[in-house]
Amino acid sequence: MERTFIAIKPDGVQRGLVGEIIGRLETKGFTLVALKLLHPSRELAEQHYAVHKERPFFSGLVDFITSGPVVAMVWQGDGVVAASRLTIGATNPLVSPPGTIRGDLGINIGRNLIHGSDAVETAQSEIALWFKEEELVSWTPTISPWLS
Ligand code: TYD
Repeated sequence: MERTFIAIKPDGVQRGLVGEIIGRLETKGFTLVALKLLHPSRELAEQHYAVHKERPFFSGLVDFITSGPVVAMVWQGDGVVAASRLTIGATNPLVSPPGTIRGDLGINIGRNLIHGSDAVETAQSEIALWFKEEELVSWTPTISPWLS
């Protein structure tokens, strides 16, 4: 079953939106298989956003992600990588449609609340970066016949 890495960024935690955001992902029918609250180190943030290291926004982005606690999660489901990106919305909340997490709740591109892996391969490396194998819980919701 496909898995993705999703993180509620420091703005989401500071604004008390953890429950709202997790609720939207649960309601959509994705299965939560790992969750922890942590204050990311600069090293972890730089590795996570390594693809952007030459971009002008990189150091500000790392400052932001390391500015407070983050909720790191792994979610599982059929096509969860692409489907959760649709639920999350566009990178810039100002052009993300209503109904998406960023469109409904996000402030601007630098305060867009949530990260979601952009491809299956990225998801695998991000999950391995943020979680140990034993932190992932294999389980099947008993309600699953209604979700498939
Ligand atoms: P990116 O991977 O392009 O977007 P997404 O989070 O939607 O996959 O960019 C990573 C983060 O970098 C993005 O969530 C917000 C930040 N960012 C900026 O601050 N300015 C920018 O111009 C871009 C493209 C991203």
